[in-house]
Amino acid sequence: MSSSNPLRDAADRRLPRIAGPSGLVIFGVTGDLSRKKLMPAVYDLANRGLLPPGFSLIGFARREWQDEDFAQEVHDSVKEHARTPFREEVWQQLIQGMRFVQGTFDDDNAFEQLKKTIEELDKAQGTGGNFAFYLSVPPKFFPSVVQQLKKHGLADQKEGSWRRAVIEKPFGHNLQSAQDLNKVVHEVFPPHEVFRIDHYLGKETVQNILALRFANTLFEPIWNRSYVDHVQITMAEDIGIGGRAGYYDGIGAARDVIQNHLLQLLALTAMEEPASFDADALVAEKTKVLGAVKLPKDLGKETVRAQYAAGWQGGEKAVGYLQEDGIDPKSKTDTYAAVKLEIDNRRWAGVPFYLRTGKRLGRRVTEIAVVFQRAPHSPFDHTATEELGQNAIVIRVQPDEGITMRFGSKVPGTSMEIRDVSMDFAYGESFTESSPEAYERLILDVLLGDSNLFPRLEEVETSWRILDPIEEYWDAHGKPAQYEAGTWGPVEADEMLARDGRSWRRP
Ligand SMILES: NC(=O)c1ccc[n+]([C@@H]2O[C@H](COP(=O)([O-])OP(=O)(O)OC[C@H]3O[C@@H](n4cnc5c(N)ncnc54)[C@H](OP(=O)(O)O)[C@@H]3O)[C@@H](O)[C@H]2O)c1
Repeated sequence: MSSSNPLRDAADRRLPRIAGPSGLVIFGVTGDLSRKKLMPAVYDLANRGLLPPGFSLIGFARREWQDEDFAQEVHDSVKEHARTPFREEVWQQLIQGMRFVQGTFDDDNAFEQLKKTIEELDKAQGTGGNFAFYLSVPPKFFPSVVQQLKKHGLADQKEGSWRRAVIEKPFGHNLQSAQDLNKVVHEVFPPHEVFRIDHYLGKETVQNILALRFANTLFEPIWNRSYVDHVQITMAEDIGIGGRAGYYDGIGAARDVIQNHLLQLLALTAMEEPASFDADALVAEKTKVLGAVKLPKDLGKETVRAQYAAGWQGGEKAVGYLQEDGIDPKSKTDTYAAVKLEIDNRRWAGVPFYLRTGKRLGRRVTEIAVVFQRAPHSPFDHTATEELGQNAIVIRVQPDEGITMRFGSKVPGTSMEIRDVSMDFAYGESFTESSPEAYERLILDVLLGDSNLFPRLEEVETSWRILDPIEEYWDAHGKPAQYEAGTWGPVEADEMLARDGRSWRRP
């Protein structure tokens, strides 16, 4: 779909994109995501002048709160987590449109109350009937909330206004469940009004992959099998599962991170140049490259799953996964997953893409490392280059956003000795503007109806097609390997790369 607003398409893209009359309903507003990310993002957007004057925010949850209690909760979360400074005048304007609706998801009266509240805000705040419903709730409730919206006429698309659904991840836990969920959602909302969140796509550094590749001439000529040896995509967390046992156990690292974030990073790194940056063109290229992903022949050797065992992290003792509160001591859930994928097309044939993610690893870092082949011939003698690694371009997605290029350079002195050096671009040093939070960008895009940064169903389905056979193999074969908390994962993952004559980066 191209943007729903052709006039905006023609507009100068440097002008601020300001949402038109609209409101946001957050289901699960008392949850962790809402408090840490969504409510602060709404305030930051307001503070940057990107929301319309009558913007309205409705919280829906079970607590017996009044509007004032909800406003106080938003206030506290903004003070604690917002990116931009607190300004009383912005806050005073924002609370004019803040309302709370109390109820559970099966409570018809609560949805009727929500309907009344929206109608009242349309009149009082001029929201024009335009509302986005953000489902920040446990995934098992996605279908019931969507069906309640339909039952109470809240999803009706009226002439001249819109109703949108924003659905958090995970979108299903395998291909079949993703398709089932989609069926329910599309019976209620038209496809272009459904926004599936993969918050990685809202990150500046992830969008910058496209800028790096397609706004420059330097990189694209070498971005292929003739020059690239392999690609490593890593998302490492240093924390354990915290209080999220209920969510995590049975899901695991591969479903939680590889199916969405890492395969999206692979798609952006490997896809062909889209004809334009319209959502349709982007999705077509991402889906095409994901569709060309080839699973390893030997899933036993070329995938690894593991669980963290007790260890030390940041000077503190960490318990193993099976000893965490709320975890079944016989759980086979993966807290670490690594897979080797190839892409069956002319650009990438024979180039492995190694993807890994894990909890309780050495450091919190997300990066894409494009590692280049060694020079085909070296005029230097072996001792000159024995410490020289392979050239690499590393896109650092978080935490210290930027790009590093690694190449060999002569060590100062009278002998010829060549060693790795790096050249660094850091966002913080090159730009005075700080990067908006991913959720700021994504909420604004929802209100603008701009779906470029939201995975479409085709991509979600294709990603499950990649992961499902791996999960099925793991279910049928043995137990997860183990790794000590605070290390860089299981020895089996090191062996997987060693068999290819390679090793994981230690970021
Ligand atoms: N947290 C993250 O960083 C993160 C990251 C990525 C994706 N997500 C996704 O975002 C969504 C929300 O995550 P979360 O971490 O915020 O979850 P959470 O802390 O468990 O919050 C869930 C919310 O749903 C509400 N809720 C649960 N059952 C309900 C019911 N029967 N009726 C009414 N309300 C009910 C809870 O209200 P009560 O307060 O009344 O229990 C709470 O507001 C999930 O889909 C998750 O997968 C979260």
